Amino acid sequence: MSSFKTLDDLDVDGKRVLVRVDFNVPMKDGRVTDATRIERAVPTIRHLTDAGATVLLLSHFGRPKGKRVAEMSLQPVLPALQQAFSGMEVSFSADCIGAKANAAAAAAPAGSVVLLENLRFHAGEEANDAHFAASLADLGDIYVNDAFSAAHRAHASVEALARKLPAAAGRLMQAELEHLGAALENPKRPVAAIVGGAKISTKLDLLGNLVKKVDMLAIGGGMANTFLNAVGVPVGKSLCEKDMAGTARSILDTAKAANCDVVLPTDAVVADTLAEGVEVETVSVKQVPDNLMILDCGPATAEHLAKRLGACATLVWNGPLGCFETPPFDAATNQVAQAAARLTKDGNLLSVAGGGDTVAALGHAGVLDDFTYVSAAGGAFLEWLEGKALPGVRALMDAA
Ligand code: 3PG
Ligand code: MG
Repeated sequence: MSSFKTLDDLDVDGKRVLVRVDFNVPMKDGRVTDATRIERAVPTIRHLTDAGATVLLLSHFGRPKGKRVAEMSLQPVLPALQQAFSGMEVSFSADCIGAKANAAAAAAPAGSVVLLENLRFHAGEEANDAHFAASLADLGDIYVNDAFSAAHRAHASVEALARKLPAAAGRLMQAELEHLGAALENPKRPVAAIVGGAKISTKLDLLGNLVKKVDMLAIGGGMANTFLNAVGVPVGKSLCEKDMAGTARSILDTAKAANCDVVLPTDAVVADTLAEGVEVETVSVKQVPDNLMILDCGPATAEHLAKRLGACATLVWNGPLGCFETPPFDAATNQVAQAAARLTKDGNLLSVAGGGDTVAALGHAGVLDDFTYVSAAGGAFLEWLEGKALPGVRALMDAA
C-alpha cells in the first residue's frame, strides 16, 4: 500500500482541523434514517477533540448543483450528530466559507465541533475550484479526509483542499484503504470475487479489472443471465442484456488468459413474476422454461460457491446473487453470505464487501458484523474495484 499520513502524524493541540466527512446520509421527514456514516466518523472526531483541536466538519448533502436549496441543508443532521458525539459541544454554521463560517470557527472553543453548511451550495466545490478551496483553507490549520465514500469525486473539499493544508487520512479513510488494500492490492491467495447485481453494462470496468486480479470470479444476479445467454444458454424471460453478449464473451476470454476461473450459476430459482409468495421452481440453468424468469441462483450453485470459498483466503463481494429484497429469492445470497461469515469468524477468510445494495443484502443475511470489513462507500467502492485512482486518495498520497 502506498503511504499517506494518518492522525498519528499530526499535532493538533490548539489547532483548527477541517475534517471532510460524508454525511450524505439517508433522511426521511427531516430525520436521519441511517446514521452509519455519522457513527463511523466518530473515532476521528473524538481523537481530534480529545487531542485539543477544534473540529470543523465539511460535507456535501445531495446534489444542489451550486445553489442554496433549503431541502438540502445539513442543519437537520445536527440532532443526529449531537446524539452520536455525546458529551461534545456541536454547533452549526449556515455557510461553509466566508464571514459566517470564519466567525463560527473563531468562536468554537478547543474540543468542540462545528458542522458547516452543505459544500455543494457553492459551485466551486464540484468544480474543484482553487479559490473555493482557499476559502475553506482559511478556516483552519490542518486538513483531514475521512470521507472515503466521496474520494472518487475530484471536488474542492476532497482534492484541491488536500493540497493547500497539511493533510492526513482520518480513521475511517485509513480503515477503508487498509482493508481494501489487503483484499486486492496485496491479498493472500486464492482470492475470490463475488459480483452480482442486475446489469453488466454498469460493471464492465469492474469485471474487466477483477478478472485480472482474482483467482475465481463468481457471477450472480441478473448479470449472470447475460453471461449465460452469451455462452448459448437460453434464459427464458429473465432480465438479460442480449446486446452485451460480445462484451460478456470478451470478459470471459480475458479471464481465461489471466487464469481466473469464472463461475456461473448451474441451477436457478425461476418464477413468472417477481413477487412474494409466487409459485417457484428450481431448475438447471439448461432448462429454464421460455415463459419463466431466473430470480435467484439455485441451491446447488449456492452450495458450490460456499464450498469454493472454503478453499479461498480472501473474498471481495459486490452485489447480491438474486432478488434478495423479495423472499424466497434471497436464499442464495443468504446462504453464501452466511458461509463467508462463518469462514471469516473461524479465521480462514478475509472478507471485504461494499457498494450500494451489497450492504443491504448482507444486512438482510444478518452477517454485517461478521465480515472482516464492510465499506461505507457506494460509488467510490465500485471505482476502486475498477482499479481507478481515486482523486481524494491520490491527493492524500501526494501530500504524504
Ligand atoms: C455517496 O453517497 O455515494 C457519496 O456521498 C457521493 O455522493 P455523490 O454521488 O452525490 O457524489
Ligand atoms: Mg452516490
